[in-house]
Amino acid sequence: MKRLLQILTIFMVIIALASPVVAASSRRGKKVFKKSCKTCHTRKDEGGKLSPLQKTMAQWRIYFKKDKHKDNSEIWEGMSKKDQKNLLKFFLDFALDSDQPETCG
Ligand code: HEC
Repeated sequence: MKRLLQILTIFMVIIALASPVVAASSRRGKKVFKKSCKTCHTRKDEGGKLSPLQKTMAQWRIYFKKDKHKDNSEIWEGMSKKDQKNLLKFFLDFALDSDQPETCG
């Protein structure tokens, strides 16, 4: 019994340590969005209002792969790979055809 508990404990520690690395976080992505995108993307500013709802998941994947402000790429250059992943996760989680489509203010 004691041995089983030990094994379980080790198992849980491994899961707890591994999960933040594996899973991108859309909550974190929303922060990145506010910090890096909302500077231009508000109703009034030059970029216009931007929200995950504007595209489907497939369209966001394509945008993140191909476009990403080609003409203005310094917007993405300052962003870590991890933040880019989180940002994509945020857009996918709330995309037009996601389970929980949402505007983000
Ligand atoms: C320096 C200002 C600026 C920042 C910062 C900015 N954008 Fe933009 N964005 C624009 C402008 C201007 C347009 C419209 C013209 C164009 O497409 O380049 C635009 C257009 C877009 C579009 C529309 C393209 C389409 O196909 O409909 C998307 C999506 C987009 N931005 C995503 C983002 C994301 C995601 C971020 C944050 C990582 C971001 N933008 C940060 C200025 C900005």
